[in-house]
Amino acid sequence: MTRQEFEKTFWDLWFEGQTEKERAKPWLPSKRPHQIPHEFLECLWLCSAVTSPLVLEIGTMGGHQKRFWQQLLHADYIGIDISEEAPADIYGNSSLPETRDKVLEISGGRRPNIIFIDGNHSYKGVKADWELWHTEVDHPGFICFHDTHHDHAKYASGPVELWQEITQDRQFLSWDIFFKVDYLPRTPTGESKQCGIGVIAFA
Ligand SMILES: C[S@@+](CC[C@H](N)C(=O)[O-])C[C@H]1O[C@@H](n2cnc3c(N)ncnc32)[C@H](O)[C@@H]1O
Repeated sequence: MTRQEFEKTFWDLWFEGQTEKERAKPWLPSKRPHQIPHEFLECLWLCSAVTSPLVLEIGTMGGHQKRFWQQLLHADYIGIDISEEAPADIYGNSSLPETRDKVLEISGGRRPNIIFIDGNHSYKGVKADWELWHTEVDHPGFICFHDTHHDHAKYASGPVELWQEITQDRQFLSWDIFFKVDYLPRTPTGESKQCGIGVIAFA
């Protein structure tokens, strides 16, 4: 797929099944992935370097990422969520070995090439996901973290802290994907919370 075709398919999926009024809304997580679209588009484009990957999404919430991975990357897809209200293939805590075993059971022993970590956002939670999953990713592959960038340094979060830690020692090829927007919900202290996606390559 050319970049132009990739973008067209992305935006068609982004607005799929939405009324004109909904399409005009910049932020509609009830019908779209809980992502900044320009960031998610670049993340998908980077990850499209892997042919027919197995994608594991940690934290599916509304279940809206799945169609992007399937239609843009022709991926096999497994989603995990701890909440039974979320559409997912596996319910449970993503950082537990028994959840990993369920993933491998469903995939027939195939390890994921792309892991999108977007579950528990506490430092302890996201670190536990990284510890369990970074040795499980199949090569070539990518691990993506959501919420690695906050425009306001005072607002700390688990993924920001962990991302800085992991990328500081520079043993990984990584990308910081960031697109500043003004339409996100505010933090408890009134700051505009930005997102950012951090991507690490496993060659
Ligand atoms: C920010 S939402 C995910 C958004 C989704 N990835 C998207 O792009 O639309 C976080 C989700 O992670 C789930 N979650 C939180 N802690 C988790 C854990 N330890 N294991 C699995 N899922 C978890 C929550 O139930 C919630 O649905």
